[in-house]
Amino acid sequence: MSTTQSSKPSNPGHAFMRALRQDHVGLSRVMREIDTQAHRLTEDPEGARAILVDAFRYLLRYHHAYHHPREDRLFAHIRARDDELEQTLQKLSHEHESGEQETERLADDLTHASSEDLAGEYGAALVNRINDYLRHTRTHMRHEETVFYSRAERVLTDEDWLAITADDGPDDPITDIRTMRASYPALARSLDDPTSHLGLNRPERSSSNELRLQVLALTDLYGGLMYEAIDLTRTNFRRLKSARGPVSLVRAAGTIYADNLRFAGQCVTRPSRWAVNTGAGLIVGWLKPYMNDQQDRTGEQFGGE
Ligand SMILES: [Fe+2]
Ligand SMILES: [Fe+2]
Repeated sequence: MSTTQSSKPSNPGHAFMRALRQDHVGLSRVMREIDTQAHRLTEDPEGARAILVDAFRYLLRYHHAYHHPREDRLFAHIRARDDELEQTLQKLSHEHESGEQETERLADDLTHASSEDLAGEYGAALVNRINDYLRHTRTHMRHEETVFYSRAERVLTDEDWLAITADDGPDDPITDIRTMRASYPALARSLDDPTSHLGLNRPERSSSNELRLQVLALTDLYGGLMYEAIDLTRTNFRRLKSARGPVSLVRAAGTIYADNLRFAGQCVTRPSRWAVNTGAGLIVGWLKPYMNDQQDRTGEQFGGE
């Protein structure tokens, strides 16, 4: 996590925990995409397979390779200092292992299945496994966040943080669209494509399914904003606390004002963007059958002449 290496923050524990929470925001986004693609796997096996395989590779190469080992190091140090969360932390670390094995199996099974298999019973069974996987991963993440916000990391010393943040590895590639395009082109296209929310480039989805996906998107969006709000509050509090004298207090107030303003802007633009996408997605979902009927009738007319 280069945030803890290159910029040398004054509080490595705070930067480390913030990066873990930020990873969860990226993970939620990719899980939502997996959810979407799993629902269309049997209808459009090749289109959905390309994105799903990319998504599971991304999870293996970043979340299982770096995010979970970071959490395992954190959990091990917390357990050594405080045994209150012993069982929960042990269970979470065990879920990292089983989760990685299932991610590998899903990526392999998707890669090696024929198009016909994916469109049939085998594909339907695979969709059920993917749904189970998503359910477990979301529960796992919720349990971790309970641990994160229980302030369990407060029991850790500077020495612990030094050991936890050593050789930390790269940042989440999802924050850099160029890296995503180079390494996971199908996933990046789908995440980056503004029309992907509109249902124009996808097989028909029912409006209830569209609504379910959009509600998931909204949950992720507000989850992300909530993390940022908590981090901003903590950062502002630290800034005010560390101010020595009127000059540094005015300087801290200026920085706080600018950061709050930036965050307020995000609170307005992100939900608005969701509302535009959702409204358009639902309208297209409802209109699409009529549009297709109209196209079919036009085609018949020309074909009959
Ligand atoms: Fe985890
Ligand atoms: Fe996690």
